[in-house]
Amino acid sequence: MSARTSTAVDDYIVASLFEADPALDAALAANREQGLPAIDVSPAQGKLLSLLVRIGGAKKVLEIGTLGGYSTIWMARGLAADGKVVTLEVDPHHAEVARSNFERAAVSDKVDLRLGPALQSLTVLVSENAGPFDLIFIDADKPNNPNYLSWAMRLARSGTVIVCDNVIRDGAVMNKDSGDANVEGARAAFSFIGGEKRLDGTAIQTVGAKGYDGFAIAIVD
Ligand code: SAH
Ligand code: DHB
Ligand code: MG
Repeated sequence: MSARTSTAVDDYIVASLFEADPALDAALAANREQGLPAIDVSPAQGKLLSLLVRIGGAKKVLEIGTLGGYSTIWMARGLAADGKVVTLEVDPHHAEVARSNFERAAVSDKVDLRLGPALQSLTVLVSENAGPFDLIFIDADKPNNPNYLSWAMRLARSGTVIVCDNVIRDGAVMNKDSGDANVEGARAAFSFIGGEKRLDGTAIQTVGAKGYDGFAIAIVD
């Protein structure tokens, strides 16, 4: 199956199942105009995040890795009334574009964007007693996956759902000796989830507009 086919199928999924959301489309356009890398979740993946938020009735969501806030807006769309997304971003330009995307999407009051290295912001969140979060989406610098997972455990409760993006990487996750820090980060996520008794998880391989990749999903016991 070609990449062209799976992209066309993603378009079909969107056309068949999604209501129009011009602010989400505008966020992608703004990201492109502002030179952000096109590594946002796909629309189908964003909708899945939104559904996971709804399914869990989540009121407190934590995202590590905002970029232009495309995934943030999807999750904000799924929040219960008075729910919030805290999202962590290190790049000031990404954060600025995200803030303007949140305004356009009318979710600024539901989003708390924290600028700075995520490991620092996570320390602050723990010291503020900001948890427990109902859903945590990890999608930043991949080598830090095990660090983010271990902070996620500290900010979780029994029943918290943790989603970790980009853990398949064209199947390279199979390769023990890739020498690629992103692949090693993906493998480290598997080791962490597999080795943590309080986590029960799986991973789903995906194709579509973003090629062949996948995400891990786990629940805290
Ligand atoms: N979740 C976004 C995509 C995130 S891309 C979406 O799907 O729309 C990864 C983001 O993580 C980038 O914006 C990058 O700047 C940010 N990032 C990388 N290292 C980081 C760090 N140490 N702390 C916080 N953010 C980081
Ligand atoms: C990359 C990062 C992402 O979060 C993503 O979804 C796809 C690719 C990357 O750094 O290559
Ligand atoms: Mg990602």
